[in-house]
Amino acid sequence: MDKGKNSRPVPLTKQNTKDVGEFFSHWQRYQKISSANYLFQKESSAILQRFISDNFIWGFSIMDLGCGDTGAMSKILRESTIEKYTGVDLSPVALRLAENNLKKLHCEKNFICGDFLNYVQSPGLEADIVWLGFSLHHLPMHQKEKMLVFCRSILGFHGYVIIYEPLLKENESVENYLRRWWKICCTWKVLSDSEKEEARWHAMRDDHPESLSTLEKIGLASGFKYVERLYKSPNEHCHLVCFRT
Ligand SMILES: C[S@@+](CC[C@H](N)C(=O)[O-])C[C@H]1O[C@@H](n2cnc3c(N)ncnc32)[C@H](O)[C@@H]1O
Repeated sequence: MDKGKNSRPVPLTKQNTKDVGEFFSHWQRYQKISSANYLFQKESSAILQRFISDNFIWGFSIMDLGCGDTGAMSKILRESTIEKYTGVDLSPVALRLAENNLKKLHCEKNFICGDFLNYVQSPGLEADIVWLGFSLHHLPMHQKEKMLVFCRSILGFHGYVIIYEPLLKENESVENYLRRWWKICCTWKVLSDSEKEEARWHAMRDDHPESLSTLEKIGLASGFKYVERLYKSPNEHCHLVCFRT
């Protein structure tokens, strides 16, 4: 595991991002939610897999920001033409799991422990796809804007930022979103009451979701040609959104 590729250490500068990393070191709860498919990752992964095979017949590189353990991504990439994978995460625990999950993937692989917003500002980065699964919404608005601008500069002529994230409904407040999310969370039977409370505390502290129209606005302002939703989960919680250069 690389602590900042090419001798560029990626410092953990902010207490809040450090806390998010520590939170996800308690990986078990996320794995429970994910394994029960409460986030509809089977459905969204199938769509992402098809998208990649339709658009990248001859090979591609992917930068997976907030890669976690790559549980879903490792399956998506299994049959793909991937040539280079870069995973970035705050959590060394998650990165160790990611390395293991991707060990059968035959391509160049880099695992970087650090803050993804710092990482995307490193000079000389290139990728065909930048992927963010359940991590962009932890950034406040001005950092999301910054993130999209730097991601745009990483991508070439034919490149994509693809995110799978919770979104606000149009004109929904974050308070209403959190109420809606809590109703969904209460149906997650695999979690104990205390795990649900921990998840609630995390969402109240760290979730900064945006609406699709806001993402479209900041995507276009960052230099993307169009922003398109590829999938919406049946409970309207999770959305697969693609920003194209
Ligand atoms: C909910 S998990 C999602 C993991 C994976 N992307 C997926 O879709 O299953 C969010 C991940 O983002 C990471 N993360 C959150 N904020 C980050 C940041 N600022 N820099 C790097 N990683 C971050 C966390 O450590 C965690 O592993």
